[in-house]
Amino acid sequence: MAKASATTSKTKANGSTGNGGLSGSAISVTDCRKVFATKGGKVEAVRTASFDVKQGEFVALVGPSGCGKSTLLQIVAGLLPWNAGTVEVAGRQASAGRQDVGIMFQSSVLLPWRSVIENVMLPTEIFGLDSKESRQKALDLLDLVGLTGFEEKHPWELSGGMQQRASLARALVFDPDIMLMDEPFAALDEFTRERLNIELARLHESLGRTILYVTHNIQEAVFLSDRVVVMKPHPGEVLDIIDINLPRPRMTQVLDEAGTVELVIKIRRMLYVDGMIPEEERHGMADE
Ligand SMILES: Nc1ncnc2c1ncn2[C@@H]1O[C@H](COP(=O)(O)OP(=O)(O)OP(=O)(O)O)[C@@H](O)[C@H]1O
Ligand SMILES: [Mg+2]
Repeated sequence: MAKASATTSKTKANGSTGNGGLSGSAISVTDCRKVFATKGGKVEAVRTASFDVKQGEFVALVGPSGCGKSTLLQIVAGLLPWNAGTVEVAGRQASAGRQDVGIMFQSSVLLPWRSVIENVMLPTEIFGLDSKESRQKALDLLDLVGLTGFEEKHPWELSGGMQQRASLARALVFDPDIMLMDEPFAALDEFTRERLNIELARLHESLGRTILYVTHNIQEAVFLSDRVVVMKPHPGEVLDIIDINLPRPRMTQVLDEAGTVELVIKIRRMLYVDGMIPEEERHGMADE
């Protein structure tokens, strides 16, 4: 994954203006409300949420289980309708099937009967793109995520971390300006997760992609982000938005720096000490 600069020409500096309209926001969520209608009645998943992600920014949504993080990410991805408010991505109302948006979920969702390269190329086939060009693109991306030599393997022949790398390559196959990631490394062991986080930080820093990242891990959120959107427990509301002014590039040492630890404590206090999370639910908020 170290060769991030090798594969793409779409490098954008952080904070540059682009197709996000006058505000420079790649993602803009204003007074968004989401209520699920279920057999048992209505579930208010998100009471109200407002935040934005500027071009080239890395923003994490952090909060306890059930606070509406995945719901918000799926709304931004255009996979779920919302009940009130506005949700805009690159200046247009959120909608599914866009080539400027890459999505990555907690499980890799690779098709077991297709090889790694066939999985990475799947979105290009769905959109009917040139297969020779797409294959080269997929090979470049597999190199980028450190999977050269595994192109013809099947997902079940890869470790969990490798499957997530393949899934990351697939999410990048359209060279998307915006990446939406829902706890992509949560199921991995701590060592692999930390390594992939460092590689993701490098990818973000070198390619300048806009990233909205969901996690319940405070340390991960602080390490990766430019800003962290802290959410209240269910029903979801934005409690605060914290600037993370740690130096980049973010390397392992950043994890141990006093500034990082202070920010982690600040966010944890916000959620724990201020009594936002009931005692019995606190086990869901990992921060180390
Ligand atoms: N399809 C659905 N139908 C009904 N209720 C739902 C649906 N999806 C989510 N919810 C409810 O909405 C709330 C928010 O769920 P969501 O999955 O967004 O939480 P989350 O913050 O991502 O939690 P976790 O950290 O556990 O992934 C929860 O109360 C959940 O039960
Ligand atoms: Mg979730």
